[in-house]
Amino acid sequence: MARISPSILSADFANLERDIHDIEKNGADWVHVDVMDGLFVPNISIGIPVVQAIRPVTRLPLDVHLMIDRPIRYVEAFIKAGADWLTIHIEADQPANNLACLEKIRQLGCKAAISLKPGTPAEAAIPYLSLCDMVLVMTVEPGFGGQKFMADMMPKVSALRRMLDAVNPGCLIEVDGGVDAATCALCRESGAEVLVAGSAYFKAADRAAFVKCVQGKTP
Ligand code: DX5
Ligand code: ZN
Repeated sequence: MARISPSILSADFANLERDIHDIEKNGADWVHVDVMDGLFVPNISIGIPVVQAIRPVTRLPLDVHLMIDRPIRYVEAFIKAGADWLTIHIEADQPANNLACLEKIRQLGCKAAISLKPGTPAEAAIPYLSLCDMVLVMTVEPGFGGQKFMADMMPKVSALRRMLDAVNPGCLIEVDGGVDAATCALCRESGAEVLVAGSAYFKAADRAAFVKCVQGKTP
């Protein structure tokens, strides 16, 4: 069984509270929050005040995906705002800063994760694996919802699962981008345990059924 983390990037921002209540009511596990700075990715989305505003709205863990340059500058603010899981991109800073950033996230009592863009090989994650609670494999280029799922990222998921089983077996693998009713099974079979879904969740005619499908509770 997998967890689903619906991405509020595809929510109605004028009705965010309603849409987050809906995520919880439909049986989803986490809420995925996409933070973009217009520098690391060519788009700007939501930031610290929005995380703070939605924290009291749900009991579900907030899974905050930082697509920002040099994230170490802001992790403390996001944790204070209410992030439960904080994901940084290893392409967004130097290795020494990334290591310090993961340590800082954990010291502040938050779960720490790294993310890899499609062009970043699994091996690039090796220096960080023992400091991670989760590794996020992007299955689209970060920046926008509604893109096509990159099935060629599945060998990377499997390779990371094998690497983690040797050094940090409790570490989760998350996939993000293009996950829908058709692609979710492949993600789970490849070793992903947390599946982000933005547009497919919000477009689903029956969101509760979609949640069960992504979790692998229905065929
Ligand atoms: C893309 C974001 C994703 C996005 C996924 O940069 O990280 O979380 O919301 O959207 P879908 O599921 O529509 O591909
Ligand atoms: Zn994301």
